[in-house]
Amino acid sequence: MTEVRVAPPLVDVLLGPAERRAALERDVREGLTATPKRLPPKWHYDAEGSRLFGEITRLPEYYLTRAEREILAARAGDIAAVSRADTLVELGAGTSEKTRLLLDALREAGRLERIVVLDVDEETLRESAERLAREYPGAAVHGVVGDLEQHLGELPREGRRLVAFLGSSIGNFETAERAAFLRRLRGAIDPGESFLLGTDLVKDPARLHAAYDDAAGVTPRFSLNLLSVLNRELGADFDLARFRHVPRWDPERELVDIRLRSLGAQRVCIRALGLEIDFAEGEELHTETSAKFRPSGVELELREVGFDVREWWTDEAGDFALSLSEAV
Ligand code: SAH
Ligand code: TRP
Repeated sequence: MTEVRVAPPLVDVLLGPAERRAALERDVREGLTATPKRLPPKWHYDAEGSRLFGEITRLPEYYLTRAEREILAARAGDIAAVSRADTLVELGAGTSEKTRLLLDALREAGRLERIVVLDVDEETLRESAERLAREYPGAAVHGVVGDLEQHLGELPREGRRLVAFLGSSIGNFETAERAAFLRRLRGAIDPGESFLLGTDLVKDPARLHAAYDDAAGVTPRFSLNLLSVLNRELGADFDLARFRHVPRWDPERELVDIRLRSLGAQRVCIRALGLEIDFAEGEELHTETSAKFRPSGVELELREVGFDVREWWTDEAGDFALSLSEAV
């Protein structure tokens, strides 16, 4: 076998261990002393959280990943042609599994020069960047360990970019944060460049509920992993057996609201913060929002910040949508 030499991926760490720690401390102090209690979703994703999320994507009830992959498989060539991109920038990339469909299409179009992957989970991102560098030896791979809410302005600007934000992760922002995120993203993209957005669509609440509370119990483990992160990183003593994962469909706001409910009254100590937090019996800690979308809403939110939707595709079943917009 001939040896293939591959340039190692460049990895920029914008959120290093010290900043990560400071941000975690601030979020936990603020969130657990607030009423009602809440924690931001990004802290779910340490190496174990990313692994559990990978398991979620393969669950029979979690249709989102399969539906999005179906659209990408059918439309990757169109996306490459319409965007005319030579650089793929993926936000909240995780393992970039589905993204390979896009990368293959850009490579087939003879244009793939650069791959940029951004994620908050450093371990998963480094492994993924190395794998991408091996699989796409013709492209320069650039990893960015960073926070979507802080570091969009520091994304590499070289090339003609297609920015992809998949998995309906956009739905994990609260409504006000979502608008702010889209505005900042538009500010980080040049006119003529493209934005590919995956959005899960409003549907039968029973199916939504099952997608966030699977029969095998993987989703509760993912949800509770947030408490393991606090135990390990901040010396907290959460007893995971005394919290229950509770997803709820909110029909007015059209979102799945995810909480951890305290089974009984209990006191939790967060040693690194010198904090003692009391939970009442049945008290809920808000950990995640997963908004569901309608086509007109997505188009409006994008237009408001200066993106024109050029293409709109769904899977056969109409469960999930991909939109391809141009920055104008
Ligand atoms: N894009 C993949 C993974 C989605 S899971 C897919 O479609 O399957 C969400 C990913 O976003 C995780 O890898 C998580 O680590 C990352 N993430 C969550 N919040 C983030 C934030 N605030 N900044 C950067 N990455 C974030
Ligand atoms: N972006 C994913 C979603 O909204 C994240 C996710 C999937 C999630 N399952 C979860 C978050 C369960 C918290 C709990 O679908």
